[in-house]
Amino acid sequence: MSEKDLIDQLFQAALETRKNSYSPYSKFAVGAAILTSDGKIYSGCNVENASYGGAVCAERNAIFRGVVTQGEIGVEKVLVITEPVAVPCGFCLQVISEFATDKTEIILCDPTGPKRTLPFLDFMPHPFDKASLP
Ligand code: THU
Repeated sequence: MSEKDLIDQLFQAALETRKNSYSPYSKFAVGAAILTSDGKIYSGCNVENASYGGAVCAERNAIFRGVVTQGEIGVEKVLVITEPVAVPCGFCLQVISEFATDKTEIILCDPTGPKRTLPFLDFMPHPFDKASLP
């Protein structure tokens, strides 16, 4: 499959799942989709809570869905759709770092399509990760 078709599949998965965003408090709907190292796509949306701190972001829900489904994964791409375009939050970057490779890309989109692609390492060049633990 071409890179363009792959990005399109990720975009469509994130756009479809964004419709399920449960965001009555922020009204900020987010959809995300990840591509795993073995070529699978998982999507997620943000899920908020009356106890605000209980909210979970779309990116983390997509990653957790992948891990819940198949165990440990590598994350090659993370595509996120917001309106307007926004970068993943620090909590999500930390979770992405757990499964990222040195080639992981973050694709920032609005509902009309991809707007910007950046290497994950640009966001988090020095993550706290397993190598940080004794
Ligand atoms: N949100 C995400 O889903 N992903 C992010 O990376 C940033 C923030 C969600 C959390 C909350 O439901 C809403 O956007 C406003 O912060």
